[in-house]
Amino acid sequence: MLLDTYGRTATDLRVSLTDRCNLRCTYCMPEEGLDWLKKSTLLTDDEIVRLVRIAVTHLGVREVRFTGGEPLLRPGLVSIVERCAALEPRPELSLTTNGIGLEKVAPALRDAGLDRVNVSLDTVDPETFHRLTRRRRHDDVLRGLAAARAAGLTPVKVNSVLMRGINDDQAPDLLAWAMEHDYELRFIEQMPLDAQHGWTRRDMVTAEEILTSLHTRWTLTPEGDGERGSAPAERWLVDGGPHRVGVIGSVTRPFCGACDRTRLTADGQVRNCLFAREETDLRAALRAEPGASGESDGSDDSAAASAAGDLRVAELWRTAMWGKKAGSGIDDPTFLQPPRPMSAIGG
Ligand code: 5AD
Ligand code: SF4
Repeated sequence: MLLDTYGRTATDLRVSLTDRCNLRCTYCMPEEGLDWLKKSTLLTDDEIVRLVRIAVTHLGVREVRFTGGEPLLRPGLVSIVERCAALEPRPELSLTTNGIGLEKVAPALRDAGLDRVNVSLDTVDPETFHRLTRRRRHDDVLRGLAAARAAGLTPVKVNSVLMRGINDDQAPDLLAWAMEHDYELRFIEQMPLDAQHGWTRRDMVTAEEILTSLHTRWTLTPEGDGERGSAPAERWLVDGGPHRVGVIGSVTRPFCGACDRTRLTADGQVRNCLFAREETDLRAALRAEPGASGESDGSDDSAAASAAGDLRVAELWRTAMWGKKAGSGIDDPTFLQPPRPMSAIGG
């Protein structure tokens, strides 16, 4: 198990498949993009599947979410999903994507064993989309979403970040649109994870502001008993249901006490928190093995060596998680943004 000193258990693994992206969301990266990771530092498909296998078979991970950057830019995505779906016990498999290119690949992802998708979309207006993402791809995202629903990657969730002065007046329009199309909408408070370090608390649109704005059009009642468990979203029934809306108050209503996540970056580093300042290098551990190229030659010796290697990697991973801090620390006066931006960590 992946335990920490505060008694939490990580069962939900986020795997970033690439730090690259075909959008340039202003709350994420600068116009010119970033210095992308070098190919040689990226985990290979075999290495990713091996690490997921170790997580599932040795460490109690039950859910795997593929993220980026933009994970649909990873050429081997469908085969990675397929190989992870063949693991025992089979983990739940989901994908967080900006939706560009999903139209084409949604059926193949479904056939490969993907269970669900979360699509990031912050506006229903093409012009606002261009201002936010610096690209004219609004329609691609809408078509990707429709294809995901048609392929049965349901419930299709939509993640929205509101930016003051840009789309902060669009929460009700987003919800009306999402309900019309049967997408489950969740708003996420903007977090200090942008590469430009431009986040300010004053500009962040808070969960409370979002709820106030939705209340102008609907009555929202807390779903269930108001307990959200390890789910970061507080969910509300819209006008008594059946539609729901989620609000993830990452900053103003933190859920760190119930966090069940462990993260793997595209270059093979374990992070015990989005906001961690330390990482544990599993790629180096994999590549330091005798005859390391990921796959064994099938001999008994190499099978034994690889099984011993799995145990060593599992132990490193456990140690990495044991050191997880109690919380993000955003409210501490000494808070420092992590050196890596969101696009290189995985959302
Ligand atoms: N704060 C909150 N959410 C963010 N995302 C990207 N950067 C940030 C940030 N700084 C969102 C994306 C996507 C998910 C992976 O995280 O919009 O929905
Ligand atoms: Fe790409 Fe996601 Fe960053 Fe937008 S938020 S630029 S879609 S990685």
